[in-house]
Amino acid sequence: MRSIKEALDHRYGDFPHPVDPQLEGSSFLRGLASRGACRRFRDEPVPRALIDTLAALALAAPTKSDLQQRDILIIEDAAIRERIDTLLAAQDWIPKAPHFLVFLGNNRRQRQVHDWTGIPFANDHLDAFFNASVDAGIVLTSFVLAAEAAGLGCCPVSVIRNHAQEVSDLLGLPGHVFPVAGLGFGWPQGPSYISLRLPLEATLHRDRYRDCTREMVTAYDRRRNDVFPYRQQRNVARFGKSDSYGWSEEKARQYAEPERADFGGFVNARGFNLS
Ligand SMILES: Cc1cc2nc3c(=O)[nH]c(=O)nc-3n(C[C@H](O)[C@H](O)[C@H](O)COP(=O)(O)O)c2cc1C
Repeated sequence: MRSIKEALDHRYGDFPHPVDPQLEGSSFLRGLASRGACRRFRDEPVPRALIDTLAALALAAPTKSDLQQRDILIIEDAAIRERIDTLLAAQDWIPKAPHFLVFLGNNRRQRQVHDWTGIPFANDHLDAFFNASVDAGIVLTSFVLAAEAAGLGCCPVSVIRNHAQEVSDLLGLPGHVFPVAGLGFGWPQGPSYISLRLPLEATLHRDRYRDCTREMVTAYDRRRNDVFPYRQQRNVARFGKSDSYGWSEEKARQYAEPERADFGGFVNARGFNLS
């Protein structure tokens, strides 16, 4: 495994500090520096006790006001898994992932507590949805980091929200409970690849926000292309073939098409008030 310093230099183009040898001694932090999504798995199950341990570790993550508005749903039933795989088959790695979880935002329990105590709920507005979503995202991250530290490979799955209603019906989700992301995981076939990130000058701010410049993004496009150029260009029929295709062109082309424009309607139908 690379040192933290090497991995950060590689990921950001340059990391301008030495890294404390004590930090370098932490295999967890070295793993975090070099981490990457995994979409190829060995055909070998992960013991249920390990999955439950990782879930318990993940649920120890911080949660807004101790409200605990997030849950993990482990898919064990082969028939349910098959339905999920069919819905998500456009991503062909998903059916091959040995295990699949769904991270849920859950504002229902809070509302139940109000019913049970007879104390009125006075927060039926966007923040109720937002807090539950953020808590679910935090637990997703914690699960990924715990699983990677245990030697597993993972990849989150937002495409599950392309089928939010079908997935909710399949998993028996009641009102005010919604899927935030799925997660495919298992024992990795090989080491993960370090995906480069925008330079820290674009994403790490001090005291005041400083806008990212086009030059920063262009330099990032070039650096990424030197290391791992895109094999295919997106939507060539609409945008043609680009000689300088990079991250920014890829992301602009991606969001030139509407993605999950119906998600707000789904969230409304779950009972949330988004105003
Ligand atoms: C919330 C979330 C949703 C994601 N959804 C998908 C997905 O549906 N399919 C997929 O292949 N990867 C998905 N990913 C993985 C990202 O594409 C990946 O994390 C990103 O390209 C950065 O790569 P890295 O994790 O290897 O650094 C998702 C990641 C996150 C955090």
